[in-house]
Amino acid sequence: MNIEKFEMLYEGKAKKIFKYNDEEVIIYFKDDVTAFNGIKKDSISGKGKINKKITTFFFELVEKEGIPTQFVKDLDENSFIAKKVEIIPLEVIVRNYTAGSFCKRYGVEKGIKLENPIVEFSLKDDSLGDPMICENVILSLNLVEKDVLEKLKEYALKINEILSKFLTEKNIILVDYKLEFGKYNDKILLADEISPDTCRFWDKDTMDSLDKDVYREEKGDLIDKYTEFLRRIDI
Ligand code: C5P
Repeated sequence: MNIEKFEMLYEGKAKKIFKYNDEEVIIYFKDDVTAFNGIKKDSISGKGKINKKITTFFFELVEKEGIPTQFVKDLDENSFIAKKVEIIPLEVIVRNYTAGSFCKRYGVEKGIKLENPIVEFSLKDDSLGDPMICENVILSLNLVEKDVLEKLKEYALKINEILSKFLTEKNIILVDYKLEFGKYNDKILLADEISPDTCRFWDKDTMDSLDKDVYREEKGDLIDKYTEFLRRIDI
């Protein structure tokens, strides 16, 4: 598929969005990888198609369990067709274990299982470094209405149950992840991606990362680990 014949609407750090028709877009997964808000970047051949495959699989999995997503159908190795949503400018982060910025912020050790899953929000704004934002500020700035905010939390926690159950059976810990949502007519749909770029996955026995921390912390070959994750989830 020659994707370049479609009109590009947007280019992000790891994906490009093309117009498919008035209602639908093509989401194309690039091989580019970035960390620390774009300070570290590379192109790693084969990453895009792995992340597209994993995202498609997880979107279909959660959709089957009642979470509406923007996924419509597969297009090719690197892309799928999706409903054209208006992205809500919030990153919804769910944490089951301590890691990453949570450890830095609160001065806690990595790898502690949290008593309850935590849902956090960040303002989606690269120029500000996606700052954490609390629910009061979200509502006071009118970024979303209260019922939408409640829906985001409900979906994020339901997705947590679905993914954690699935991954536990594969001996993988779902440490934390980031979700994005979009508005489509009056509905809230899960959007963007669920992949090793946006989640932390640890092997349950060794606590080794099967995600982008391998790249962030330079502790192995990204394609090897992403392929290992694919093999483990058996898709
Ligand atoms: O960096 P932090 O620990 O807050 O990240 C929590 C989770 O959200 C990680 O799985 C990370 O990959 C994901 N994340 C993301 N995009 C961001 C920020 C975090 O995918 N802009």
